[in-house]
Amino acid sequence: MALMLIILLVLLVYSLFFLRSAYSYWQKRGVYTFRPTPPFGNAIDLVLQKEAIGVNIQKFYQRCRKERIPFAGYYLLTKAIFVPIDVELIKRICTTDFDHFTDHIGHVDEKNDPLSTYLFNLKGDRWRTVRSLMSPSFSHGNVKRCCETVLKYAEQLKVLFGGMVGNLEGVNVKEACERYTTDVLISFTYGIEAGFLVDANSVFKKYVELVFGAGWKQSLRLMLNIIFPEMYSLLKLKVFDDDLARFFTDLVFQRGGGKIDDTRRDVLHNLTHAGSKNDLSMSEIVGQCFGLFLAGTETTSTVIAFTLFALASDEDAQEKARSEVVKALGKHQAITYEVLKGLDYTDNCISEAMRTFPLAPINTRICSKAYNVPNSSVTLEKGTNVFIPLQGVYMDPQYFPDPERYNPERFAEDNTENDTSVFSPFGLGKRQCIGKHIESFCTKVKTTFHRLPTRNTANQGGHCCAINQFQVYSPSGFSVAN
Ligand code: HEM
Repeated sequence: MALMLIILLVLLVYSLFFLRSAYSYWQKRGVYTFRPTPPFGNAIDLVLQKEAIGVNIQKFYQRCRKERIPFAGYYLLTKAIFVPIDVELIKRICTTDFDHFTDHIGHVDEKNDPLSTYLFNLKGDRWRTVRSLMSPSFSHGNVKRCCETVLKYAEQLKVLFGGMVGNLEGVNVKEACERYTTDVLISFTYGIEAGFLVDANSVFKKYVELVFGAGWKQSLRLMLNIIFPEMYSLLKLKVFDDDLARFFTDLVFQRGGGKIDDTRRDVLHNLTHAGSKNDLSMSEIVGQCFGLFLAGTETTSTVIAFTLFALASDEDAQEKARSEVVKALGKHQAITYEVLKGLDYTDNCISEAMRTFPLAPINTRICSKAYNVPNSSVTLEKGTNVFIPLQGVYMDPQYFPDPERYNPERFAEDNTENDTSVFSPFGLGKRQCIGKHIESFCTKVKTTFHRLPTRNTANQGGHCCAINQFQVYSPSGFSVAN
């Protein structure tokens, strides 16, 4: 009993010393910080899952703006994280001073967890090599070629919505969009047809749920991957289930048994050929293909759903977007790559949806080389984690007056009241999103196809959603999420 008490006492004293030392990190370096709450740091509501990471960091950003400080130190549990607040500093970190911040946070373990080798996670020279091998698949020509495929799946989605005519339970737009982006991404990456749009019970249903399901286990894994990536390698943990690894490995080896279209230059085809010349291992190829599915499916379907939702709530914007599409169709008869590129107002509607519902509410970097923070005496150590508070910037009235309001006019070329130069939904610099053109394309195609439920019909107790000639009534609302 006495021994037990001594052990407990030692543990308590050790914990107190540990917390004291951890929470003096920023103070010792002369970086402004707010009093942390042990053991949660500045992230109590985030850790207890009361608020999302974007909201938590947005609140931190707003406190810093009030104090007029250009950067601050944040504690996620006991992990010290640097948060640049000044937008010029953010731009420097991502662009001119990129050499000091080449990597994203996230563990890579090729042997034990092949899915972890996707581009987003790769570091230093390995990232540079793989990014250059991936880039040709995202060239202007390849994206343009992909247009036909996107249009084919968009037509299937139209049919799917058509089948929902008269559905009084409501239409889950997000789920339908997810089936659309899954089909597009699987075709673009593996050159096969997932068939998820035509078959709701396709095998992809299970794997989409496994990857993007918001269960506590997956949330915990993703959070630990940010806070203690070293732990994953040390304890041989995996961010994703074995079942997922098997499925995505099989897709590469057998192309899932689907139809192969060898006339298309899909990513897998490009990487397999590049791999033999550049020592890209099979695990890395599996990781890259999985990474595109991970990075592109959920993000794009959510942007589409949010854009449709925003337009459904703003009749004026919807009418303006539709007349732009109708005018373009009058001139060109069909939706093509060139027509889509010319839809400026539609673009503004999508950008404004991404600003008001940011898909990437924060971005991350690791300080890969000691960095003297400009106009200060602070030096960041190699290995320091950085959170870039994108949602905080987008909701800052200095850059976007009345920031809560959905207003596509902010992005009009002649609008000087808003500073859209601080808007970077796809990141900035050499590490910015490789798939942004594919995304913009899928989203635009979808946005052009619909007349949406409107506020007026919602007020009458039901949503009226006319998709071309069809009418869908959904009294329980326009569902953008599960
Ligand atoms: C609305 C949709 C999307 C959003 C908002 C988005 C956003 C982002 C952001 C913020 C980053 C980090 C950039 C940085 O660190 O500066 C990123 C990276 C990345 N994205 Fe996207 N993305 C989207 C769609 C896609 C699609 C469709 C693909 C693939 C087809 C894709 C593939 C990637 C990859 C591979 C990276 C890692 C790039 C690297 O580290 O070199 N994303 N994305």
